[in-house]
Amino acid sequence: MLVVIKKDYEEVSREAARIVAGAVRSNSQIVLGLATGSTPLGLYKELIALHRAGDLDFSQATSFNLDEYLGLPAFHPQSFHFFMKQNFFSHVNFPSGNVHIPDGTISRNYDEYCAQYEQSIKAHGGIDLQILGIGRNGHVGFNEPTSSLASRTRLKALSRETVEDNRHSFSNDSEVPKCAITMGIGTILDSRRVLLLASGRSKAAAVAKAIEGPITSSVSASALQMHADVTFIIDEDAAYSLTQRDYYRHVLEMTQIFTPERLS
Ligand code: PGA
Repeated sequence: MLVVIKKDYEEVSREAARIVAGAVRSNSQIVLGLATGSTPLGLYKELIALHRAGDLDFSQATSFNLDEYLGLPAFHPQSFHFFMKQNFFSHVNFPSGNVHIPDGTISRNYDEYCAQYEQSIKAHGGIDLQILGIGRNGHVGFNEPTSSLASRTRLKALSRETVEDNRHSFSNDSEVPKCAITMGIGTILDSRRVLLLASGRSKAAAVAKAIEGPITSSVSASALQMHADVTFIIDEDAAYSLTQRDYYRHVLEMTQIFTPERLS
């Protein structure tokens, strides 16, 4: 595990973009696992800027998004389909046929649909690079606390905390989604490389539990301790509750000297 501590959100976004852009350049047919939420917005802005500058080509890339709210059609402004289009896909040359986001409008055969999503990831050779944010309760994707660490894509009831976090985005309380379709923790752990981004003091407790706490289904992100190639890119505020900050800086320095390819 690598823990990269940056000064602020802008630096987190730039570092994440540097890594994602490097991965896309070295494998034009890359399969990206993408995330929504406020955290990856800066990353998407940086990637769009690189694309506009002629430095980044997505024409052969494929993507799978982590999750989607159940009940929201793609045109709903709070849907993750809408978010991805608005904040990323409409600004870059990602072929729309290569974009996969769970369909929030299905109303039956959930297990079958989710198994197909898993099958589609497999058919594309698996996810090369998975981007993650983290919830205040330690969730990744919508794998709420007590999610099985072996879980696959499935329908998941959202926790009260997540519903509260989302409430401000909806004008009408009855519209706030209570369920989502999400990749599972097992799905995420199958990706070849994971980048988790976090910014702000509100994430400090979850980040510390994920990195330094026991592996527990009570903190889904702690499962990443079992992944062989995971990088946390976090700002000083999100790193606030970590007890081993000096050690992480030392590891990073040594990585820069001995295995710089791990940082590219
Ligand atoms: P945020 O959400 O990036 O909007 O903080 C992260 C998450 O809940 O996974």
